[in-house]
Amino acid sequence: MADQDAQSPAGVEPPALPVLRWDETPGGPVLVLLDQTRLPAQETELVCTDVPALVGAIRTLAVRGAPLLGIAGGYGVALAAARGEDVAEAAGLLERARPTAVNLGYGARRVAAAHTAAVGRGVGGAAAAAEALAEARALHREDAQASRRMAEHGEALLEELLPSGGHQLLTHCNTGALVSGGEGTAFAVALRVHRQGRLRRLWVDETRPLLQGARLTAFEAARNGLAYSLLTDNAAGSLFAAGEVDAVLIGADRIAADGSVANKVGSYPLAVLAKYHHVPFIVVAPTTTVDLGTPDGTSIIVEQRPGNEVTEVTSPHGVAAGGGGATVVAPLGAPAYNPAFDVTPAELITAIVTEEGVVSPVTGVGLAELCARSSQV
Ligand code: MRU
Repeated sequence: MADQDAQSPAGVEPPALPVLRWDETPGGPVLVLLDQTRLPAQETELVCTDVPALVGAIRTLAVRGAPLLGIAGGYGVALAAARGEDVAEAAGLLERARPTAVNLGYGARRVAAAHTAAVGRGVGGAAAAAEALAEARALHREDAQASRRMAEHGEALLEELLPSGGHQLLTHCNTGALVSGGEGTAFAVALRVHRQGRLRRLWVDETRPLLQGARLTAFEAARNGLAYSLLTDNAAGSLFAAGEVDAVLIGADRIAADGSVANKVGSYPLAVLAKYHHVPFIVVAPTTTVDLGTPDGTSIIVEQRPGNEVTEVTSPHGVAAGGGGATVVAPLGAPAYNPAFDVTPAELITAIVTEEGVVSPVTGVGLAELCARSSQV
């Protein structure tokens, strides 16, 4: 078990992670990604020169997490525009790369709409592509701002729910700077609590099968100096029973109109545990993750991923050392069930924290009001 007890002194912050950037090269514009499949062993750049390359990076999870997928989708459409390609087709390809995180389609469609509007005004070629890029940059900036505001709202909510302080927070999957234009969603809240000296411990679920918790959240927790401990997903129950979890903080990939939340598989069992143990279960996500067009949880499409992600364990350390990195942990040919996400109903969620404020209790009306507020900005 990784266990880091010393918190970094307040004010000492690591340099920003080079998660995603637009680069103008002699060969044309490219999108440069931090390859998240190689973390924490290697900080390797992945250069996407076109939309098919970006679609591949999205499918392999080199770039991942709902808000960042939205940003990547937006830049992907800007890349297609800069290359003089069919922007609507590019937006469709990007949107279909993964089905659950609503931000991906949101980002791609938003930038495509900016390009279409420019063309509609008679702006052509390079100038229309520049408008598409400006829209992608605006989306990127807005996500950073949303991240800051979610951290503020989330921390205030925790102070209200847990006035005695010294929080032990449990999180699942990865929701930090690696998924965001800023410092993330749920992780950004934990980070703010840490910077205020009130985080006793961040419990980090390893998050099988692809280990976003072990590989990515532990990496982010360590570089920010948080006191954290890594646990296997199935150790969470005994942790709740021992009274060692004060609140659960997770992100979201899509929030339906009735407040049902799709997030990394393993979130729903945590919500059930939290309810049983009377522990607040808090979802932190920007309003761009709310999809009022999806009426309820049963309407959310949950991505099913290849069985080998379950029957094999891939070690980025193995990859870094030059090995194949995959260890088979099941009989050859074992069938596997591998949904990437699960859906938690609103009744199990204490609060949804967005950049526009907090919905608690979680109701469709409350969510719709927050979304209306964000669209007025
Ligand atoms: O399959 P992933 O790694 O893209 O899944 C990511 C998650 O489930 C995150 O918890 C979610 O996107 C919220 S990130 C703010």
